[in-house]
Amino acid sequence: MEDEVKQMLVAGLNSSPKYIPCWYNYDDQGSTLQQESGVLNQDYYLTRSQISFLQHRVQDIIPDVPNGLTLVDLGSGDCSKTRFVIDELIKRQSTLTFYPLDISGDFLLKAAAKLREEYGDSLAVFPVASDYVQGINQLKQVKGAKLILWIGSMINLPYEDQISTLRLISTMMTDQCRLVFTADITESRDVFLKAYNDDAGVKRTFYQYGVTRLNREEGSMINLDKFSYHLDFVRNTNPQYMSYVTSYVVAKEDIQFTIPGLGIDLVMAKGEQLFFHEGEGLSCKYTLEQLQTIVEKAGLRMIGSFKDTDKHVAFCQCATK
Ligand SMILES: C[S@@+](CC[C@H](N)C(=O)[O-])C[C@H]1O[C@@H](n2cnc3c(N)ncnc32)[C@H](O)[C@@H]1O
Repeated sequence: MEDEVKQMLVAGLNSSPKYIPCWYNYDDQGSTLQQESGVLNQDYYLTRSQISFLQHRVQDIIPDVPNGLTLVDLGSGDCSKTRFVIDELIKRQSTLTFYPLDISGDFLLKAAAKLREEYGDSLAVFPVASDYVQGINQLKQVKGAKLILWIGSMINLPYEDQISTLRLISTMMTDQCRLVFTADITESRDVFLKAYNDDAGVKRTFYQYGVTRLNREEGSMINLDKFSYHLDFVRNTNPQYMSYVTSYVVAKEDIQFTIPGLGIDLVMAKGEQLFFHEGEGLSCKYTLEQLQTIVEKAGLRMIGSFKDTDKHVAFCQCATK
């Protein structure tokens, strides 16, 4: 896994344009930053909207099944939002088996330990510390009716990866299973650019965290002062696509930084960009039609979509075809 990570970093830093994949931001420290950025950043509407929906309408996204559900959470983070679903399921079926999956292994294990401590015998927690591909293949062994959550995570993947990951998720679903994923449906450019350019710089620190981690783990001394930071929004109303944010730095001068752990130098000409995501962008925004298209392309069926009162987030409920 470690070698694979290094290979992917080298591929990103040698590509044109250069990038650090967004998933690299997720280790123990990066995950803490990400969770904090959702709460500390007063302008970040999405976390608030997701929580508000789950607080008031969690019943809407949980199907009624005769023999109870097993819960799976993909990209589970600190499981703080998942708790609303856990509480509702325990209310309905008194005990629950829960599989949180996350690439940020240490962070996941801490979250799982906390849940075990709090819920005791009513919750059996089986953390899967893995990326989606390996973890979902493992979770295919889990039998019976499953409620699969994918909250706040699809939006940071390139378009084709969103579809392929949904398709992958469908391989662990039977007709008894339901998938619920969330998507950002905010329309106002001002609202989300403020959220990503918050005054405290919380989001920026998180986006740039890949460089901090590279310096710490791979022995480089990349100096972010040699770059200017940028954030753009690309709106796209084509039903076959999506809107997204791009987050990147631009070299203020010709630079060269050795990255000993990767065996390469980061060489950039003045004006060259280094993106903090692969593919077109991250923090993607959608119309409901665009979401419907993605779900269909993945071979799934959208059976319901629910919006919060501020119309920032859609909870999309899907079944197999
Ligand atoms: C935006 S956070 C959402 C966390 C949580 N679901 C929430 O809503 O608070 C994305 C989560 O997905 C995880 N993640 C990112 N890329 C992943 C991958 N390729 N495989 C598994 N987990 C991944 C991250 O570690 C992080 O916890």
